Formats: sequence, structure tokens, C-alpha cells
Amino acid sequence: MEHLMENQGILFFVFLLYALHYVHGDLSYSVQEEMKRGSVIGNIAKDLGLRLDILSARKARIETEENQRRYCEVNLKRGELIVSERIDREEQCGEKPSCVLKFELLLESPLELHRVSLQIQDINDNAPSFPTDIIKLEISESAAKGARYRVNAAHDSDVGQNAIQSYTLQRNNHFILNLQTTSAGSKYGELVLEKELDREEQQQIRLLLTALDGGTPQRSGTVVIDVTVLDANDNAPVFSQAVYEARLPENSPLKTHVITVSATDADEGVNGDVTYELSRMSDKSRNMFSLDGQTGEIFVAGNIDFEEDSKYEMFVEAKDGYGLSSDSKVIISITDINDNAPVIVLKSLTAPIPENVPPGTEVGLINVQDRDSEKNKQVRCYIQQMVPFKLIPSIKNYYSLVTTDKLDREDVTDYNITITASDTGSPPLSSLKTIQVSVADVNDNQPVFEEQSYSSYVPENNKPGHSLCSVKAHDPDWRQNGTVIYSLLPGEVNGAPVSSYLSVNGDTGVIQSVRSFDYEHFKVYVMARDNGSPPLSSNVTVSVFITDVNDNTPQILYPAPEGNSFMTELVPKAAQGGSLVSKVIAVDGDSGQNAWLSYQIIKSTDPGLFKIDLHSGEIRTQRDISDSDNMKQNIVVSVKDNGQPSLSATCSMFLLISDNLAEVPELKDMAYEDSSSKLTSYLIIALVSVSTFFLTFIIIILGLRFCRRRKPRLLFDGAVAIPSSYLPPNYADVDGTGTLRSTCNYDAYLTTGSRTSDFKFLTSYNDNTLAVYHCNAFVNTIPFNLN
Ligand SMILES: *[C@@H]1O[C@H](CO)[C@@H](O)[C@H](O)[C@H]1NC(C)=O
Ligand SMILES: *[C@@H]1O[C@H](CO)[C@@H](O)[C@H](O)[C@H]1NC(C)=O
Ligand SMILES: *[C@@H]1O[C@H](CO)[C@@H](O)[C@H](O)[C@H]1NC(C)=O
Repeated sequence: MEHLMENQGILFFVFLLYALHYVHGDLSYSVQEEMKRGSVIGNIAKDLGLRLDILSARKARIETEENQRRYCEVNLKRGELIVSERIDREEQCGEKPSCVLKFELLLESPLELHRVSLQIQDINDNAPSFPTDIIKLEISESAAKGARYRVNAAHDSDVGQNAIQSYTLQRNNHFILNLQTTSAGSKYGELVLEKELDREEQQQIRLLLTALDGGTPQRSGTVVIDVTVLDANDNAPVFSQAVYEARLPENSPLKTHVITVSATDADEGVNGDVTYELSRMSDKSRNMFSLDGQTGEIFVAGNIDFEEDSKYEMFVEAKDGYGLSSDSKVIISITDINDNAPVIVLKSLTAPIPENVPPGTEVGLINVQDRDSEKNKQVRCYIQQMVPFKLIPSIKNYYSLVTTDKLDREDVTDYNITITASDTGSPPLSSLKTIQVSVADVNDNQPVFEEQSYSSYVPENNKPGHSLCSVKAHDPDWRQNGTVIYSLLPGEVNGAPVSSYLSVNGDTGVIQSVRSFDYEHFKVYVMARDNGSPPLSSNVTVSVFITDVNDNTPQILYPAPEGNSFMTELVPKAAQGGSLVSKVIAVDGDSGQNAWLSYQIIKSTDPGLFKIDLHSGEIRTQRDISDSDNMKQNIVVSVKDNGQPSLSATCSMFLLISDNLAEVPELKDMAYEDSSSKLTSYLIIALVSVSTFFLTFIIIILGLRFCRRRKPRLLFDGAVAIPSSYLPPNYADVDGTGTLRSTCNYDAYLTTGSRTSDFKFLTSYNDNTLAVYHCNAFVNTIPFNLN
């Protein structure tokens, strides 16, 4: 483990080294000045060993300093460096013997910088020229043979071989030319007197001096020298220094005194009056400085900018009254002032940035330039805001903009990154640049439902198209990545596909029934999916509960409903108050409240004799039977459910107070008029059997009473098993999860059994119905006494 970390450390270090040193070898080329645009300078692809497609994929390009012209560019198709603008060596480098243009070749991802130096070769495109067309010399006739007269040099902007190589003097009788080199290195000619002058013979001599350069073809310039022969002798002025040097801060105001040159002349009077004038100098310098012809003072006459030119050279000529002259060189060096703020240039930017880029990803490239020099040019670059970006110094004055943290478009969509660059001059200058960076969406959020699960309660017998509920999911992503579409997941309800039960609106999430439900509880799964690629989804459960409607009238199972009943219960004469006589059994097809049944006696022969238990339907004597009671008792019982509105049914019951079956024939009177003899015999059989069972029942009751102390509940005590045909078709717990809502309502079908009637149902009594019967919800909510 430790070893591994060490390895990683080394790798990281190697990476750092690589990152910091990816300035590659220099490229150098040479090209003649004044080449046509598009001329090929060299093949960069070959020299760097890069394939052409890589060259263009990495956006190879030439970068120059701010404000500098781009003289060449990369032809990405052929990998060549070509001339893109006219290059004039003299404009670039003046008289410097060697002229090199420097720029950078930039390749991105990873950033790679190559220094390119382009040597500009001189061509002989400038002819030598003299400062004036005519040089006037005044020479005394007494001048001795060998006297020397300096002639100002011609100037050729070209260098080397193309610069002035020689002078020739037109053949004449008096002068020859002698070539001299000044201490500053320039060549000039001297006229040397070979044969004495005679004013009386010739007062004016005209000579032609030609300067020649060494180029091919050779170029030349000429000047006319007018020599006037004078009577007296004369001395030329002499400068106190061969070269004057001065330093001047840039931005010096106009008329600032720079330097004073001075020359003295040994002569007196007019011959000793020295005047100064600027002779050979570039046009640029001519606009920058002025010279006081009388005093030799040089002043600032233009806008001095170090960044334009840091050095000016000029020649000052001193002349006496007779026109004898000499010259001296003045060199003015300009010193830098921190007058340029750094300039921040955004060289490239990934826009927009996908939100899933890992921290440390390079997203932009920034170049900072300061036109000042040295300390004034050193720039620090940083970001002060709290943004997940930072600048990493790269090669030279390049910085990489990298992410420092994860980006989240759902959190921040745009960043305005303010970059500050300040130089180290005094006072320092700084500048700001704001880069707008936007974050692009990636499908990184799945739709999330508002609720963990949804439930819907639907009354039974609903119409198809009924809206059950609507589900809603949110996805914070952008556009299609955040567009939620709802759909039902395939599944089955009671063997049929869910789609035959429900439909969901893909856009709104509204769930509608497709048909009328008879299934009391089912679950479906709804999926919310976004439209991204790949799409993301989440699922939710929708539980549908069908709620009961009170549409079933209680159904009386025992005795048979009113009008058709010939059932008669036998009541022993000795029955005491509170004895169980019979029981009305009824069921209701509904569930819940709608199936809670209550029993009431609405009509009876002797209202004080029998009572019925409101909930169990058990009919008991209210008091002891006395002899005076009518033997034949008739009661009408109404069974009502608890629905809104409630539904009810009624039945009649005949009770015969008798111990003796011999009294049975009197039953005939109790029966309805329409009873037939055949029916009567059935009735007799029924009565006999009922009575027999009643007696058995009494015995069992007694037995039970006895046993109950030890065995508190007997299966059929308080429980009547209903034949399965009376149960609703789907009574099972669909949920299976124990969710007790409507499921248990079906238990309400069950009412405590009549002891006299238990036998009718015992055959179908089984564990299943018992389980349903013992449902907790039922026990808790239905106030039946299940002793
Ligand atoms: C960024 O700047 C732009 C233009 O100045 C502005 O419209 C935008 O609201 C800014 N964004 C932030 C996140 O500040
Ligand atoms: C959605 O996300 C994908 C990547 O998951 C991305 O390519 C696409 O541009 C995003 N769409 C929009 C509209 O932002
Ligand atoms: C949603 O259910 C479908 C089908 O069962 C499944 O393919 C998908 O992965 C589930 N999606 C989620 C987020 O659980």
C-alpha cells in the first residue's frame, strides 16, 4: 500500500515535471525580406515530427505579442509556416546587422509552446543616399596640397554587403577621395587637395560623388559637391565629444532638455560662428527631437514611448560661417516607465463546460502580456472570487484555467470569472478580465416522485375514464434531460394486464381507469423516465383501493323472508326469562359499514315477551313464560345495514309456546290461508325435527355451560360458518401484506350463530373462514360481542 502511494507520488511528480517543462525545442527559419504572401518559410509538421491531423486537432497557431503584427502563419493543410504579411527588414531592425523576429508556435491540449525565430535576410532594396543633394564647400585658395575636407557620409538602410561599400569621385584636376571610418563605425569620405587652387583661374568647382553598395544588382547614390574658392584660410568646428549619450525617461513632456552638443571653431568672427543642425537620422527620430541651431541643445519634440523605440541615434553637424563642418553622433536611450497595464488575453475556452468534467480539467488558456520591460513586465495573475476555478501558471506568460471542484449545472449555470493581473512595477498596474463560463447539462438527475407511493380510493362501479389520481415527478436537468414521461410498468392484475385496468397520461401523470373495477385492491407501478440519452428513470407504486357502495340489501338466510315462511320455533312452556329462542341470520353483499347489520322487532303478538339482540339477531324471552301467554306468537324482524342510506329487509317468525308435540295440529291455524296439505305435512316433519334438535340443543347448551369454564370458546359459539357461496367472490387478502383497509370488511358478513341453526352451516366451516373472521381490524372496529 505504502509502496503504491510512493509510486503514485513519483508519477505525480513526473507529471508535474512534464507539465512545467513542456516548452519544446526552438524552431528557427530564415527568410528573405519582401517575400510574397504565402511563400513557404519551412515545414513545421516535419520539423516537429507531428502528423498533419494532429497539428490541426491541436490548433497549432502562431502567437505574437499584443499589438505586434503577425508576419507568418501556419498552413494546417500542409503543415507549413508561410509568410502572411510583407516583411521589411529595415522597418523591423533598422541598421542592426542581424534581424531576427521572434514568436511562438502554440499547440493546445496539452499546451505546448515552441519558440520560433525567423532570421530576416536583407535584400538590396535600398539605394545609398546622401542627406542633401548638394554639399557646399568653401575652400581658401591658399589651402596647401594635402588639405582634407570632410564630406558627410551617404546612408544605405540595407546592411552588410548591401550597405555602402565604396565611394567614387568624379575625375577632376584638384581633389582625390580618401575613405575614413569614424570611431562610431561609419564610413565617410574626405576630399584631399591634390593640386592647389587658384581663385583667379577657377572660382567654382563642381564635383560628383557617388556612393555604391555591394548588393546585386548594385545600387548607388550621388551628391553634387560645389566648391567655392575663397581668399582666406579657415578651420572646421570641432565637437567636444565624438559621441554624445543621454538617457531619457519615456513619456517626457515636450521641450524637455535632453542634451547639449557643442563644437568650437578656432577661427574668429564669422569663421568662428558655429551653427548646428541635425543631419543623418531616421524619420522617426526626426519627429521626436528638435535641435536649437545656435546653442546645440536637443529637446523632446514628440511623444517618447519606450515601447515604440528604446534607442535613438542621430548625427549633429556643426558648421562655421564658411560652411566648414564636422559631425558627431548622439545616442539617446529611453528608460522604461511602468505605463502599461498587463493585458489579459483569452486564448481558448471550452464553452460550455459539461457539468461532469472531473476536478482539475483544463477548460481555458489565458495569456498575459505587459508591454513594459523588466520588473514592469513581470505579471502575477489570479482569481479572487470563490469559484471552482483556478489559474495554473503554465509556460512563460500562459496560464491554464482549470476546475478545482465538481460542477453542477442544477446548482450554478454560469460563472463570471474575474481574472486579475498585476505587474510588479512601482506603482504596480493591474487589469481585470471577466470570463463568462457556462456549464452544459448532462443527464445526471433521475426523475424523483413527489411521494414515496400513491394511493387512490375509487368507489366501486366506477365509470371507465374516471381519474384516480395523478403522480408527479421532478427532474432538475435541462430541456429533454429534465422532461419527464410517465408510463405504466407492465404487470398483471388478477391475470389481466394492468393496461386493461388503468392508463397513465405520459405528460401529466394523471391515472385513469380504463374499465369499471370489481377488484377491491391492486397495485401498479408507474415509471417516470426523462428524455435524456441514456434516459434515467424511477418507479413508484400506486395502490388502488375500491371502496364499497351500499348497493346490497341485507339478505335474510334464516328464517326465509316474510311471506314464504312457515318456520316455527318451539318454545318450552318452562322457558325462563332470557332463554334463547331463535336467531335471525342475515348477510349483506356490501362491506364495511354497509354490511353492519342490526336487528329489531318491529311487530309482535305480545311486545313484552320476546326481544332481539340488536347485533346478533338472537331472539330471547324477556320474561318467564306464563300460562296466560298466547300459545301462538308471531314476530316480524327488520334487518338493517349501516349504509347511507341504509337498506333493510324483514322477516316473520312463528313461535309456538308448547312442550307437547300433540299441540302441533293447531299450527294449521297459524299457517297462512294458502298453505296446502302437502305443505302441512312438510311442516310437521320440519317441526318435529326442529323440536328434536332444539332438545338436543338444550342438552348441548347445558353441557357447554358446564364446559365453558375450562374451554372458554367453542368453535361455533358466536361463530357461524357461512357457506362459501355466500361470500363475495374475492374475499381473500389481495394485499397479502396485512394492510387492513377494506379487505377485512368482508368479515362483517358473519354474525354470531343461532344455536338452533348452526347445523345448517357447519359443513362448510373451515380454517379459511375462521382466519378471515379473526381479522384484527374487524375485532377492533366492529362492536360485536363475540363472547
Ligand atoms: C455574468 O455577467 C453577465 C453580463 O454582465 C450577467 O448578465 C450575468 O447575470 C452574470 N452572471 C452571474 C452568475 O453573475
Ligand atoms: C443532456 O445530457 C446529455 C448527456 O447526458 C448531453 O449530451 C446533452 O447535451 C444534454 N442535453 C441538453 C439539452 O442539455
Ligand atoms: C423500474 O422498473 C423497471 C421494470 O421493472 C426496471 O427496468 C427499472 O430498472 C426500474 N427503475 C428503477 C429506478 O428502479
